[in-house]
Amino acid sequence: MIVGRAEELAQLERLLGEVRAGRGGVLALHGEAGIGKTALLRAFGERCGSGVTLLRAGGVEAEAELAFSALSDLLAPVTAELAALPIPQAAALGAALAITPPQPGDRLAVCVATLGLLRAAGRKRPVLALVDDAQWLDAPSRECVLYAARRAAGAVGFVIAARDEREAAADSGYEDLPALRLGPLGYEHSLEVLRHAVPDHVSRVAHTLAQAAAGNPLALVELPATLSHEQRSGVAELDPPLVPGRRLRLAFDHRIGELSHRGRRALLVAAAYEGDDLVTIAAACAGASTSVNLLAQAEARGLARLSGERLAFGHPLIRGAVYQGAPAAERRFGAPPVSDRPRLHSAWLHDQVEPTLSRVGDLKPLLRIWFPLFDGDLGKRVSASRYPVCTENLIWHAEVKPDSIGDEGRPEQVVL
Ligand SMILES: Nc1ncnc2c1ncn2[C@@H]1O[C@H](COP(=O)(O)OP(=O)(O)OP(=O)(O)O)[C@@H](O)[C@H]1O
Ligand SMILES: [Mg+2]
Repeated sequence: MIVGRAEELAQLERLLGEVRAGRGGVLALHGEAGIGKTALLRAFGERCGSGVTLLRAGGVEAEAELAFSALSDLLAPVTAELAALPIPQAAALGAALAITPPQPGDRLAVCVATLGLLRAAGRKRPVLALVDDAQWLDAPSRECVLYAARRAAGAVGFVIAARDEREAAADSGYEDLPALRLGPLGYEHSLEVLRHAVPDHVSRVAHTLAQAAAGNPLALVELPATLSHEQRSGVAELDPPLVPGRRLRLAFDHRIGELSHRGRRALLVAAAYEGDDLVTIAAACAGASTSVNLLAQAEARGLARLSGERLAFGHPLIRGAVYQGAPAAERRFGAPPVSDRPRLHSAWLHDQVEPTLSRVGDLKPLLRIWFPLFDGDLGKRVSASRYPVCTENLIWHAEVKPDSIGDEGRPEQVVL
């Protein structure tokens, strides 16, 4: 089941028409993690019908060092055509695919033989090679696939899907191929994906999830599982910032992990702050022994976009991934400047205040009376204008004088 993507499917079907007509063709399908590249390839494959030889392969991160692993998957259905190749090419490709005895590598011979094999198969029936996760192809396979794709003619076509990884994309080798960029799903289509993922969803919750997912189908599919039953049914509030599900979080974590220590801290400062004002973020970064300039690292990896005085996350869920992924000791650096306390994330409050409360020991029950924001649903009950100063004092000084407890059991003074 694929929702939307009519235009993209039409473009792929035009490519298929070209291949059937013997004019060849290639499309490089780009898009962020989880945007639906694999789903689109699958839907397209199903539409190709039986008159086409479909070849499929995909890069596998764990096999990126295993030479020719992807090429041997791709060519497996047509290796009978090796016999149609000149002997040196057949020997080179046969050895690379471990079909014939090993021989010293000749890169060009393997590339030329790959193209020759596809053309030979294409003379019998149109051939369409669908290559997924190209960012993880082992290098020799990638070289052959690109060589053949650039020369795809006759009844041979390629669709090569790769993740956008920003910096990596610049030297990926696919940028000279005709591109098909896969963007976010629209709002109505997002709701439709959610309806399939959670048939008994509550529309208010679906609206919030659709906004948080920003058209990324993987986020839509995974987010409901990150919520409690009460949250899914709309009884309990959602706790911002929302955190992506497992697969999407892995993809974000991978990019976050590439930042330097201080670069990550700068992004954490931005994530702990609900606003987008770069001047505020710069001040908070300075207070956290980092620099707003280091956000350039995050920008290069598509984690954030800086424009003028504003910062936007590459995807709304990156905020939650950055915050939740940071070790507790780092999270305290995510304190926004005092002027922005009313906009603290409840998750930040919770992380910072709870440990402080446990340190003040006996006073905890009393503080719970005094600070109703501490019990239960923080996000809903933070009446920020009343609490930030006390909260801040507790966090940074963790000291409440026992003799300042008044008659009603409320601390009258929080010591600075
Ligand atoms: N148009 C769509 N309609 C319905 N479900 C979709 C659509 N696109 C993607 N999905 C679903 O969203 C999830 C993520 O999609 P998919 O795996 O295709 O993303 P991807 O771009 O290939 O991600 P990655 O970069 O991790 O390979 C899958 O569960 C998929 O079935
Ligand atoms: Mg995929």
